[in-house]
Amino acid sequence: MGSRSIKRGPIGPPATFTGRQEILTPDGRVVESLPKKSGKPERDFFGRVKSPKRSETGPKEPKRKKAVVGPDPMLETIEPGSPWSIDERKFPRYEPIASKLRFCLRYAVLAPSSHNSQPWKFRVDATGGEGVAGCVEVHADRTRALPVADPHDRELTISVGCAAGHLVAALRRFNLAERVSILPDPRSPDLLASVYAEPTERELRPQDALVFSGMLKRRTVRHAFEDRPVGERLVGELLELAKGHGVECAVVAGARPRQMLGKLVAEADEVQLASRAFRRELALWMHHNRSHAHDGIPGYAMGMNEVMSLVAPLIVRTFDVGHGRAAQDEQLVRHSPILLILGTGEDTPAAWMRSGMALSHILLRAASENVGASYLNQPIEVDELRARVARIVPGITHPQIILRLGHGPMVPHTPRRALSDVLIQSEVPKGRARS
Ligand SMILES: Cc1cc2nc3c(=O)[nH]c(=O)nc-3n(C[C@H](O)[C@H](O)[C@H](O)COP(=O)(O)O)c2cc1C
Repeated sequence: MGSRSIKRGPIGPPATFTGRQEILTPDGRVVESLPKKSGKPERDFFGRVKSPKRSETGPKEPKRKKAVVGPDPMLETIEPGSPWSIDERKFPRYEPIASKLRFCLRYAVLAPSSHNSQPWKFRVDATGGEGVAGCVEVHADRTRALPVADPHDRELTISVGCAAGHLVAALRRFNLAERVSILPDPRSPDLLASVYAEPTERELRPQDALVFSGMLKRRTVRHAFEDRPVGERLVGELLELAKGHGVECAVVAGARPRQMLGKLVAEADEVQLASRAFRRELALWMHHNRSHAHDGIPGYAMGMNEVMSLVAPLIVRTFDVGHGRAAQDEQLVRHSPILLILGTGEDTPAAWMRSGMALSHILLRAASENVGASYLNQPIEVDELRARVARIVPGITHPQIILRLGHGPMVPHTPRRALSDVLIQSEVPKGRARS
């Protein structure tokens, strides 16, 4: 893995994007009561859900305090019928284990993945009835790899790890005791995990409830964060979550380490975006705001309006925008309330899977407190810079992910493929042991 390769890239608002100016601030209004012309919430030029006109909401009410009555505004952009529209009350409590596992998998497909490539497939192995243990096989779908950005499938594996992490969070929520076996079959390198589950009478632990409660709120927030600290208690919990998965996690604190990180991110931006192959691959996964694609990144998730989202793939493919991007990312680093680096002692597929599971739980727990996150992985993705990331803070051996955390705007969710598209229907091959 030592050869020079240009890897994963910065995705985000174009260099001209003005950040805060385009932010939709949840103001505590009960948005669900808005008059809607169709089943879908009305969106504005930027893909954000529209606030009602004064004439539609009746006479002006006296200003109320910020207390949110009714649905959580962080959930308000979920469109009916989308994979994000899941009602946990519909968990099939009295149905066989296979139905329960399939229900939990609906949460697994909401996991983040690089370029929203969703490089996963699942097989449910459960023929028994109520009370009988079942198993979900979690596979890599390498047809969805990013050969330029991620030549070793490291981020692909982390993404599949995120899906496994989401699955585990859902199993715990619905009182299914789980056991995860990473890379259980040396003859099947695409079988990245077997997740065994069994109904239990165990009480739902508060920390598991908190992780799960971020499930529908989580999204990548690439905008500038508000100038508001993230609570120390929450940050402490995030570090503990990483530790629980055997993953190193360190806060980049202090002016000098932050400055070093900002410089490295900027340097990596320039290296990556100078590569035409890298830009071409990135542009393939960028979609316009009204695209019906079930994967990839719509412009609105990068803060783009409709026109910008139409032209951005062409601009990215054609021009080296690395310089502007570098300056912008350096600013983002400077103004991020919390910067985290996740790392592992080894740099193997098993370690990448654990990183993904830790990442999933960290993002979910942060989202449960309306803390948003986005990625600054670029210097990990450029081989020559990766070792320098490890030197920024003690306690990181092989850096895997760099996150910025803070309070940001409510951006609409990105699309997902339906569960039926990622379920392997065939039987488990004979001879595969169930441990
Ligand atoms: C392993 C991994 C690496 C990622 N790297 C980046 C990145 O470098 N830049 C970026 O903007 N987003 C990155 N993302 C975020 C994805 O683009 C995002 O998860 C995907 O578009 C789905 O959107 P959502 O997170 O809002 O659901 C990464 C996600 C994962 C899991």
